[in-house]
Amino acid sequence: MKTIAVLTSGGDGPGMNAAIRSVVRSAVYRGMKVYGVMKGYDGLIDDDMTEFNARSVGNILSRGGTILKTSRCERFFKKKYRRQAYLNLKARGVEGLVVIGGNGSFRGADIFQKETGLQVVGVPGTIDNDINGSDYTIGAHTAVDTALDAIDKIRDTVISMERIYVIEVMGRFEPFISIMVGLAGGAEDVVFPGGRCNINAMCNDIKKGRAKGKISWIIVVSEGAGCAADVAAAIKKKTGYGIRSVTIGHVQRGGSPSTFDRVLASRLGAAAVDVLAKTKKSGMVGTIANRLNFENFKTACKHDKRKTGLEGELYKLIRILAT
Ligand code: F6P
Repeated sequence: MKTIAVLTSGGDGPGMNAAIRSVVRSAVYRGMKVYGVMKGYDGLIDDDMTEFNARSVGNILSRGGTILKTSRCERFFKKKYRRQAYLNLKARGVEGLVVIGGNGSFRGADIFQKETGLQVVGVPGTIDNDINGSDYTIGAHTAVDTALDAIDKIRDTVISMERIYVIEVMGRFEPFISIMVGLAGGAEDVVFPGGRCNINAMCNDIKKGRAKGKISWIIVVSEGAGCAADVAAAIKKKTGYGIRSVTIGHVQRGGSPSTFDRVLASRLGAAAVDVLAKTKKSGMVGTIANRLNFENFKTACKHDKRKTGLEGELYKLIRILAT
C-alpha cells in the first residue's frame, strides 16, 4: 500500500487529533503518501483533501476537536455520492482509508467498502463509548472527566443551598458517561437507558433521606433516558422541594484529551496503518483488556455493549454508597 487517506466523521471528541497525528506519522514512517480529508465524508465527495507530512500534524496532540473538521454527512447515504467519493480517491491513487468516528461513520464505512472494494479501517472516536470491539472509544475518558469536573462544581452550590440537582450528561444510547460520573461524582441516583426511572421511588428516597438528615441530592440523567428539566419538574411537583436542573451539553465534547485518550488514540492510529500496510482486511481496530483487537464493522456497530452488565454492577454500587 502506497497511498492512504484519513478523515474524522460524526461528533468530534478529545483525542481525535492525537489519532490523526498517529495515522499520519505512522504512514510517513512506512514511506506511504497520506492525504488529510476535510469535513468527514463531505471532503471525500467534494475532493477536499491535501497531502500531509509529519509537520502537518505538529503540535496537535494536546488539542481538542479535530484539525480535519468533521460532519454528519447526509449525502453519503446516497450511492451516487459514495461513487463520487470513490472516484475522487481513485484519481489520487488512494488504496486505503482510515475513518476516525463512531457508529454512524462505521455504518457508512461498511457500505462504502463493500460497494467499492476499497480497504477501509475504522478507529473508534466518540465520547459515547458505544462501540463493540473496544473497551474504550477515543474521547470517552476525557468527556467523563469534563462532566465530573462540572458535577463537582455544581456540588458546591448543591451543598451550600441544600438543594436537589438534576444534571443531564451526554451519551445518546449508552449509559457510560452517566454511570461513570454517577459513581465518581457521588450521585444519589442515575437515570440511564436500560435503567429505572421511577419518579415515585425517587421522591420517596428523597423524603426518607431528608428525614434522616440527608438534605442535598444529585441525580444524573443520561440524555438517552430523558431530559433533566422534565425529571426535575416531576420531582418538584411531588415533593415541593427546592430543585434545579442543568444540561452540561457540548462542553463534554471539548478540551484537551486526557493521558488515557492520547495513549489510546496513538495506539489505535498506528494500529490502523498497520492493518492497511500488512493485510487486506477492512474493519475497526480497538483494544480489549488493553490488547489490540480487530472487529468487523457490523459487529462494531451493534448496540450491545451493555451485555457486559457493567452499568448494572456500578449502578448498584452508586445506590449503596449514596445511603
Ligand atoms: O458525538 C456523540 C454525541 O455527543 C452524543 O453524545 C450526542 O447525542 C450527539 O453527539 C449530539 O450530536 P450533535 O452535536 O450533532 O447535536
